[in-house]
Amino acid sequence: MSSIHHIAVLVGSLRKDSLNRKTALAASSLAPKSLLLEIVEIGALPHYNIDLEEGATPPEAWGAFREQIRSAQGVLFVTPEFNRSVPGALKNAIDVGSRPYGQSAWAGKPCGVISVSPGALGAFGANHHLRQSFVFLDMPAMQQPEAYIGNAAGLFDEQGNLTNPATRDFLAKYMQSFAQWVERHV
Ligand code: FNR
Repeated sequence: MSSIHHIAVLVGSLRKDSLNRKTALAASSLAPKSLLLEIVEIGALPHYNIDLEEGATPPEAWGAFREQIRSAQGVLFVTPEFNRSVPGALKNAIDVGSRPYGQSAWAGKPCGVISVSPGALGAFGANHHLRQSFVFLDMPAMQQPEAYIGNAAGLFDEQGNLTNPATRDFLAKYMQSFAQWVERHV
């Protein structure tokens, strides 16, 4: 019997009614029981600045965030695309977690990416720019299935529940694959 794996979920949008947050919650609820997923908030992390790191009191929020990532067995990124790339808040979280140099919280953590957009392209650009960082961060990233969720505004009801059957089915299969990916790398 496999054990439970804790997964840190990072949502690249900070807004209350975020389609990405709704998707992250839906994916979490559709995941196999071997995964325990929890959103790690990134909106209050101060911008990375090495002067603060080397100062007398580095931001407490950085330390707490790094510990949350270290204690997880895997990471699921759910992100929109801003100007064909990764939103700044998410990139900042990645930078914060990657330092101090040589003590990255990300190293070796299996990860997956779901990108979500109200547009037709499913935030492909953000999805792939994010993958570029995984190379240096040494994070084994699941390649298949790919998850580009487009036209996302029509997939949820007024309460934010994912009601589109095909997307529910896809996300359930995605999370099954992700659970296997995590199992292979822990
Ligand atoms: C966007 N949006 C956007 N969408 C897209 O598909 N490609 C893009 O390059 C951009 N660029 C972009 C830049 C900025 C600054 C904003 C604020 C928005 C639209 C974006 O996909 C839309 O606002 C989503 O709803 C954001 O995701 P959440 O907040 O719904 O999760």
